Amino acid sequence: RLLNFTSTMVEKQGFKHFMLKEIHEQPGVVRANLEAYFRNDVNPGESPINLGLPTELYNDLEQIHILACGTSWHAALIGKYLIEQLAGISTQVHYASEYRYAPPPLTANTLIIGVTQSGETADTLAALAMEKERRQGKEPKYQARLLGITNRPESSLGHMVPHIISTLAGIEIGVAATKTFVAQLMAFYALALDLADRRQTVAPEKIAEIINSLRQIPKEIEATLESQERLTEQLAHEFAETQDFIFLGRGINFPIALEGALKLKEISYIHAEGYPAGEMKHGPIALLDAKVPVVAIAVPGTVYEKVISNAQEAKARDSRLIGVTPVNDGEAAEIFNDLLPVSHVDELLSPILAVVPLQLLAYHIAARRGLDVDQPRNLAKSVTVE
Ligand code: G6P
Repeated sequence: RLLNFTSTMVEKQGFKHFMLKEIHEQPGVVRANLEAYFRNDVNPGESPINLGLPTELYNDLEQIHILACGTSWHAALIGKYLIEQLAGISTQVHYASEYRYAPPPLTANTLIIGVTQSGETADTLAALAMEKERRQGKEPKYQARLLGITNRPESSLGHMVPHIISTLAGIEIGVAATKTFVAQLMAFYALALDLADRRQTVAPEKIAEIINSLRQIPKEIEATLESQERLTEQLAHEFAETQDFIFLGRGINFPIALEGALKLKEISYIHAEGYPAGEMKHGPIALLDAKVPVVAIAVPGTVYEKVISNAQEAKARDSRLIGVTPVNDGEAAEIFNDLLPVSHVDELLSPILAVVPLQLLAYHIAARRGLDVDQPRNLAKSVTVE
């Protein structure tokens, strides 16, 4: 017993829980993905992206369907945004459990992507198997082009699909996914940029610029972790007994609102809803009062002003407003009651930073409530039954 206890402490490297350790491992995870999938020295005519995927996967691509569950589904929503905005390919994201029983009509030249960190989620595997089977024997343009995004290439998914992007996060022990989510986002940045590069939908200079900004992300996550540890702990102290939370985001950060709410539900058992900020007035606004805090992700870009004005509507209903927003933004500082500042980066890259304070907030609230952060009740790391 004593030995086990000691070895666990070593594995946690001084962190109280695996989840906290894994949150802090994220800068390293992003670095590993940058090194693996982006070239440092690009020779003339060579792509700066190095995913090693064959051209037959991409040729004449007209549509993409992404199948996933849980946190992987949130990563897929960000993937859809990136692929559509950068590479101009119409992309749909499906809950694997829904897709299985109501597959859309067969479309030609379609790439099917299964996203599962464990590579063992039953619904995701079954949806992929179904798609493979119904395309068998059809004319070439309908045949299955399957790609997996997983943290475990040796998993059942790895055996099922011919092509894999391995997310290089290392083993994740905490049931609530953190570093594997960030790693999945890295896979989608690489995939969307690779598609954009091959289809020439984005100028090479712009691609180089995005990759350069991606290279700054590990440092930015480190800075966020450093500044947020104390801030989120303080907020956790105030919100440990809160019963409901609303998370708002728009555009590329709407899925981060979903993910922030999911993290809180999973480990702290507090009711939380993630909503696209513009939809708040169509329902959730009725829930708002001084007892329901609102966390808004408001980062400069296409929908910044919109999110700020949606946040103001929440404040007018007496909700306490917590803003995940860039440091030193005067306007934001006035509106929000509490700030979880993140660095100002290109909007396209902002989700990877914005999720970090939300992971920490969920962690500290759960820890403050004395809950089993790494093994929350009723949840499993991977769900291998339907
Ligand atoms: C479980 C886990 C979640 C995870 C989901 C999908 O519900 O508790 O953290 O996001 O499964 O898992 P996958 O391995 O397919 O990404």
